[in-house]
Amino acid sequence: MAKLSIIGAGAVGTAAAHWAAVKGVAEEIVLIDIVPDLAKGKALDIAQSAPVYGFSARILGTEDFSALKDSEVVILTAGRPRKPGMSREDLLRVNLEIVRSCAEEVKRHAPDCVLIVVTNPIDAMVYAAFRITGFPRERVLGMAGVLDSARYRYFLAEALGVAPEDVQALVMGIHGDHMLPLVRLANVAGIPVTELLPREKIAEIVERTRKGGGEIVSYLKTGSAFTTPGLSAVEMAEAIFRDANRVLTCSVWLQGEFGFSEVFIGVPVVLGRGGLKRVLEFSLTPEEREALSASVAEVKKQMHLTGL
Ligand code: LAC
Repeated sequence: MAKLSIIGAGAVGTAAAHWAAVKGVAEEIVLIDIVPDLAKGKALDIAQSAPVYGFSARILGTEDFSALKDSEVVILTAGRPRKPGMSREDLLRVNLEIVRSCAEEVKRHAPDCVLIVVTNPIDAMVYAAFRITGFPRERVLGMAGVLDSARYRYFLAEALGVAPEDVQALVMGIHGDHMLPLVRLANVAGIPVTELLPREKIAEIVERTRKGGGEIVSYLKTGSAFTTPGLSAVEMAEAIFRDANRVLTCSVWLQGEFGFSEVFIGVPVVLGRGGLKRVLEFSLTPEEREALSASVAEVKKQMHLTGL
């Protein structure tokens, strides 16, 4: 029986549970939060949409971490969201302690799961979870590239007036202002976007993508994006449950790929049962390599701040 657990019944965790239910990725979905009754209320609300929408997953909300038992995939969303003026890095210290206690619970109750970390700053938090659980790199993944690439694809589609699903594009690197939306590889049904949009428009889109999370924070004021972050984590979980060998950009522990080692950074990977199957390595131009190095330097700084 496929079981997905989601830690954190805030906006992202709730969105993930909702998407997981309607997409039918697991037969059992558990939503966990330490705030008494919060996950119960959110789970019950989602469960009551089953007769209207027509899904059959069982959804349970609880504050008891032992409910993680037998989860094939765990999505960790617990943590404080960004507020206006706050960088993802400002969150590091606050969220590190939350990730630490949750990762210990995951290790205790679901030692064989694939853990997907969504808590910001994602690349540093997935590193912390990797160290604390001691899981192999295949089973500890950071969600960011799917979200950042979705924003990039959406903005390109909007500018081109084409269906967003026909735009393929890749954002590598840190989930932060140094992220690397690749222009050279962005295409519409195989046609390079550089043939379809003026250079300045593409540059504007690249910049908007880099600041994509902050733009939403500036509108929401009391929180950050949740619908697409939740769906992006579920997309990764679905690839694992279905052993789909999806090519998705995830933050993974590099061991020499792209010339970098011992750092979590967003790169395209093949995802299926058991998590990471392989990193899809390809040649970067000198400029892209330099941009990726800047991301790596930034993540290493954050990893150091965790003290792990
Ligand atoms: C964002 C936050 C979740 O990118 O980092 O929306």
